[in-house]
Amino acid sequence: MKHSPLFSFRTRNSFYACSVSEEQRLVFNGWAPCAEGEEPILETARPPLLNNWISQDNRQRCDEVTGVGDEALQEPSIFASVPEAAVAEHEAPYLPARHLALRFVAHRRGNPEHLPAGAPRHGRSPEFRGGDWHILSLRDELSALEVDLCIRARPEVDVIERYLILRNTGSQTLELKHAWAASLQLPFGQWDLTQLCGAWGIEFQRKQQPLPLGSTLLEHRSINTGLGLQPYVLLQPRGRASRVSGLTYGAQLAWSGHWRIHIEQHHSNRCRIHLGEHPEDSRRSLAPGEHLATPMVLMSCSEQGEEGVARNFRRYHRYCSQPKREALRPVLYNSWEAAYFNLSMQQQLDLAKQAAELGVELFVVDDGWFGGRRHDRAGLGDWVVSREVFPDGLKPLSDAVHALGMKFGLWFEPEMVNPDSDLYREHPEWVQHYPGRERSEGRNQLILDFGNPEVVKNIRSQMEAVLDECPVDFIKWDLNRSVSEAGSFAGEQIWRRHVEALHGLMDHLLKRYPGLDIQSCSSGGGRVDAAMMTRNCQFWTSDNTDAHCRIAIQDGFTLGYPQDTMECWVTFEKNHQTSRICSLDFRFAMAMRGVLGIGSDVSKLPPEEAERYRMWISFYKQIRHLVQGGRLHRAALPELDDELSVWQFTAPDGKEAYVSLVMRDYRLGSHLVQYRLADLDPDAMFVGVDEQGIERVRARGRELMAQGLPAVIPDGGNLCPGHVRHLHLTTA
Ligand code: DGJ
Repeated sequence: MKHSPLFSFRTRNSFYACSVSEEQRLVFNGWAPCAEGEEPILETARPPLLNNWISQDNRQRCDEVTGVGDEALQEPSIFASVPEAAVAEHEAPYLPARHLALRFVAHRRGNPEHLPAGAPRHGRSPEFRGGDWHILSLRDELSALEVDLCIRARPEVDVIERYLILRNTGSQTLELKHAWAASLQLPFGQWDLTQLCGAWGIEFQRKQQPLPLGSTLLEHRSINTGLGLQPYVLLQPRGRASRVSGLTYGAQLAWSGHWRIHIEQHHSNRCRIHLGEHPEDSRRSLAPGEHLATPMVLMSCSEQGEEGVARNFRRYHRYCSQPKREALRPVLYNSWEAAYFNLSMQQQLDLAKQAAELGVELFVVDDGWFGGRRHDRAGLGDWVVSREVFPDGLKPLSDAVHALGMKFGLWFEPEMVNPDSDLYREHPEWVQHYPGRERSEGRNQLILDFGNPEVVKNIRSQMEAVLDECPVDFIKWDLNRSVSEAGSFAGEQIWRRHVEALHGLMDHLLKRYPGLDIQSCSSGGGRVDAAMMTRNCQFWTSDNTDAHCRIAIQDGFTLGYPQDTMECWVTFEKNHQTSRICSLDFRFAMAMRGVLGIGSDVSKLPPEEAERYRMWISFYKQIRHLVQGGRLHRAALPELDDELSVWQFTAPDGKEAYVSLVMRDYRLGSHLVQYRLADLDPDAMFVGVDEQGIERVRARGRELMAQGLPAVIPDGGNLCPGHVRHLHLTTA
């Protein structure tokens, strides 16, 4: 079969290719790792011919975008019904046609006509529009539906971006039932699937299982990304790859609610991954001249196992997603666990003074500062500073915090309302509900109907009034319940409308307040995704601050997202969520692997403990440029290396590194693990000092990478759960 033209997308270490068949179909050719500078041999990657043989499995299409009815055995990328022009009476029952024959019509380079759904519009993201987009246009002649497959390679980070734009160029309205953002094809074979899943308090747990034959659905039906599953999959040839080596494919969906990933594993060994908005309630009419853009999908592959793909996504988000921000994230203090709802001006001032004294750079007031919010049963929706708590408003506190040399942050949960609030008393119709039916509450709250522009406008002006009156540098954006009765002004469009309104509100605030940063919270890790990465500079990963539990949570988070967006707090010795007692050193070691935060009651620290806080914060500041700007290598993983976790953060030139070692558990009788470093200048001589500046190692980069280091540097230290070690390596 003649395939031409060929569209080949190169990243530094991979390629993706598709071509136009004789029938004018846009067909997938190949996606694989490929050495820098090497030309992929695409012939081998060509899909087999479709034939008229009896085996139906052989008849599946490899089209990049399949239309409904064009091929029956697999999920179509686009499902639409098309009212054809007048037909003979006896044929009328056959209409509307549920058939799209999408054929290639054109290719151009430049900016796509429309941004993907979920793309940032605050003007701070690096080069979102720029770069070399390829627009491959397909058309169904009968319906006049045109589809642009927009695709762009990001060579420097080994990621490919893609999404679809659907346009009705005809004169009839098309009923669009569903459009996936991408339908990806893997090489023929059987696969292991890795997901990040969990629940509140146990988020981002990595889980691998064989991909079964048939359909596998991963999904979340709500207005946030979800605590239970991430819109992110990793696939490896069954049994033939690992965390750190072997062929691995990864795909992330850049969307923040109501999503689905549908993986089809056919008996023919064909495997397709569809990612997009959830097909339920995604029906819409596309009138003549109207268009629809899907969210974006990010894809990456590597020969270095899950960690190879993770490294690509981390670099992508750091350099291509993150809103422009200061080079280093400040050390944060958050008063939630120290105060819960019992705030007062004096108490917040005391905490702020002590925090500043310890070296904190950003002070965040959490829940409880507004309306009647003295507990979680009232106040949400009334974004007016409570005079009961702050008699002169928040400005004096914000001024005091700034005078102490820190930034000032404030908690909001903009999409929610308590029935016990002025907003709800005035507008009981402004929540998601079905008339005459129960409005079920979650954490005593209801969800505001962001499908109604009036509601969004009200919340926006309330937030602006607070931010105009009192300088705020940082918003912690929370969301603490999931959807039940999703009745909305927007009807079944509510899922998309809510996410659009949320993105729009964030973008508006980021534009209006140029110095403002937003942290995504959602009960911990409930709103972490590639679309949020373009507007939120950091993420509260989990409410679970137990250092022991954080090992797996943080391993999981950084499998998809960069450590410099991962907020981690040191909280009380006896953990509030699990009651486990963890040493201060263990708590700091875990929190220093991302953006360091403090969440304990620093105003009540005994002097010796305060001194330890000061020491750790100052040590973090010495190595923070490596944690936040360096390349992460996991030199030991608890599941593979006898409960040992070692993270290495290395400067881009390989001449400086920070190594963080934590023993998750110690099983009597187990032996020491020797871990190998990576990414160092092989010829440089390194000196490694601990947090006290005491020299612990002196060796060449090559030795540290080949021979490695024993897990415990002998100094009589105990080998016990929570045992930690730090090494700051610089060239001698
Ligand atoms: C859930 C968050 O994850 C916590 O950190 C805290 O902000 C509470 N909400 C406040 O209600």
